[in-house]
Amino acid sequence: AIAADVRRGALIVLEGLDRSGKSSQCSRLTSFLHTQGLSVEAWRFPDRSTPMGKMISSYLSSQMDLDDASIHLLFSANRWEKRALMEAKLRAGTTLVVDRYSYSGVAFSAAKGLDLDWCKAPEAGLPAPDLVLYLDISAEAAAERGGYGGERYEKVEFQKKVEQNFKSLQDSTWQNIDATQSIDTLESIIRGAALKVVNDCHSGRELSHMW
Ligand code: TMP
Ligand code: MG
Repeated sequence: AIAADVRRGALIVLEGLDRSGKSSQCSRLTSFLHTQGLSVEAWRFPDRSTPMGKMISSYLSSQMDLDDASIHLLFSANRWEKRALMEAKLRAGTTLVVDRYSYSGVAFSAAKGLDLDWCKAPEAGLPAPDLVLYLDISAEAAAERGGYGGERYEKVEFQKKVEQNFKSLQDSTWQNIDATQSIDTLESIIRGAALKVVNDCHSGRELSHMW
């Protein structure tokens, strides 16, 4: 009864189209959980700080071209290179608030025409989120939000396909949230859902693995 006494942290993932508001909600949620006295860290994928992340970043800014399957596997490998650290943090009691995860990996690559099950395969075995908060917004509404930053996937027609793929990936850990609500309303819905799952994890909910 030594290691078992450590109350593990929760793996909370925010997903959604580009410009759905994930990044601001991730930082708001992280600050909030911190004020609740919890150990919490904000993470994001792609993690552009690693050598693989730097390749992904130059692909996204169109400085480099890569085969569709190859970039897909690189995005996945960028999660795998963080797996041990992710699991160690969770088991040590730190809650991780993660901006994008395997769902983005599959939804974006499959939107190029790659087979959905093929896209899911390399994600199998990664830690599974305890909660996926999907910030639901149409591709058209997202595009109206001050436009896109010019990265590779930031085009309405493409994002429409991504949206359909996201919806086919929903499972029991997902909570869909209407992302057109005010920032403050969203924040409070997200806080409530996050506190509940942190509590579940503290009460013994086991860490599971994809898919
Ligand atoms: P970001 O804007 O959140 O940094 O993500 C960059 C882009 O990469 C975004 O358009 C979504 C896309 N993406 C993938 O295609 N596969 C992945 O595995 C991830 C995490 C993101
Ligand atoms: Mg982006």
